[in-house]
Amino acid sequence: MATNPFFTTFAQIFSMTGKDIKRAKELLESGQLVAIPTETVYGLAGNALNEVAVAQIFKVKNRPSFDPLIIHTSSFERIHDYAVSNAVAEKLAEECMPGPLTLLLPKKPIISDLVTAGSNRVAIRIPRHPLCNELLHSLAFPVAAPSANPFGYISPTRAQHVEDQLGDKIPYILDGGPCEVGLESTIVGFENGLTTVYRKGGVPVETIREIVGDVQVKSHSTSNPSAPGMLKSHYAPRVPVKLGMDIKLLDKYPAEKIGTIRFTTPLDGIPEKNQLILSKSGDYAEAARNLFAGMRALDKLDLEIILAELLPDQDLGLAINDRLRRAAAE
Ligand code: TXA
Ligand code: MG
Repeated sequence: MATNPFFTTFAQIFSMTGKDIKRAKELLESGQLVAIPTETVYGLAGNALNEVAVAQIFKVKNRPSFDPLIIHTSSFERIHDYAVSNAVAEKLAEECMPGPLTLLLPKKPIISDLVTAGSNRVAIRIPRHPLCNELLHSLAFPVAAPSANPFGYISPTRAQHVEDQLGDKIPYILDGGPCEVGLESTIVGFENGLTTVYRKGGVPVETIREIVGDVQVKSHSTSNPSAPGMLKSHYAPRVPVKLGMDIKLLDKYPAEKIGTIRFTTPLDGIPEKNQLILSKSGDYAEAARNLFAGMRALDKLDLEIILAELLPDQDLGLAINDRLRRAAAE
């Protein structure tokens, strides 16, 4: 049967996922939420200058209001409208923006306390995903966007991931394909003149160090996320995750109920379909790209336990290990 153009159009208008930037723009301008692609993970976006939209983000995500949101804009010039910059920030921005870097800077009054959860610093990022950037460029306001997953679960790296979990709660998902980086942005701020990494992410710590010199890393694992709010248990699938390849656990569960997350090679004796191999060639960027989608796929299998192997602590291995540790945290 030939496709009926009426129904094609009808389907496009009412489909909740697509590449329609104009529709995304109109929804955001009217105060509604749209899931947006970025090179790190998909975000749940709303007008950052509209408190009703911002409140709606917390509600849809089921996110506690003490956990602040990152705002997204299209150029470094625009950052100056929302925050107070400094020389080191400018240097980092020059090298890493647009890209998977978030800067934590003193906020200007235009940014509400709702966005920053009462903090006087605002987190700002300029994504480098072309579709996202085109959208942000067309808007007169920045968008606040946490990762587009229910609070505490694995971040989405495909439009389908968002649709699976938030599909009935938001009007539109802008589909930008699979995320190129696959891990959230690296969050960098400044404390007593020292450049501080608060969340390991898509820009390796080594790169930050090369650009600015001295860097302290403060990845929180507290259950009281003052600022920045980084909870110990996060990125967690439903199936319990255990770090290391504990032989006792291998005996405790039948092989078909065990899943693994490994860097380059599978574990003997476990069915292949239960094993997430992050990168056969040992490539960190590929591993990062595969991590969240792979964890979601494992979580759909009927497993009782997932054994995760930590990667070497270098490059994006640091950020991947951070996510694995949080996924395994009680
Ligand atoms: O790559 C990313 O950063 C993605 C994409 C969508 O941009 N966003 C993202 O947002 O990961 P979210 O909300 O899932 O994680 C943001 C983290 C949280 O841990 C939050 O506590 C911290 O950033 N954060 C945001 N604003 C902050 C602030 N003003 N002070 C301290 N921490 C802040
Ligand atoms: Mg998140």
